[in-house]
Amino acid sequence: ETLIEENTTGFCGVDGTIDNNHAGFTGSGFANADNSLGASVDYSVDADHATSATLDVRFASASNRPASIEVNGSVAGTVNFNSTDSWTSWANESITVELQVGENTIRLVPQTADGLPNVDSLSIVGSGLNPGACN
Ligand code: GCU
Ligand code: CA
Repeated sequence: ETLIEENTTGFCGVDGTIDNNHAGFTGSGFANADNSLGASVDYSVDADHATSATLDVRFASASNRPASIEVNGSVAGTVNFNSTDSWTSWANESITVELQVGENTIRLVPQTADGLPNVDSLSIVGSGLNPGACN
């Protein structure tokens, strides 16, 4: 398992801010993307062989915030990010994706203009994985 927080290697950025005003996050805070269609959260992971991996996103939201998961620029699937009822109630949603050998980009992209949920961390479960350099 590779755990990427907002302040650790493998976190490449958010179209928004890193905030800490809603309790219950791990690390130093959470990624608060802008409430708009293109506003994404971006990660990078290195794989020492091509493999499937499970992406486990810890998030909170007071409303449903469905998102596309883009891996290496292609849509790999959808995560519902259903409401957790409050900004301080954190939950996990997962999706299994295919990674290539070498660096992989992972992007959470909102499907509506409401934007993404607040994103606390990304855990990537698979073998031979390390946080990437965001090249
Ligand atoms: C509120 C909340 C933010 C959240 C935002 C949103 O402003 O405090 O943390 O990101 O709603 O709707 O996305
Ligand atoms: Ca937001």
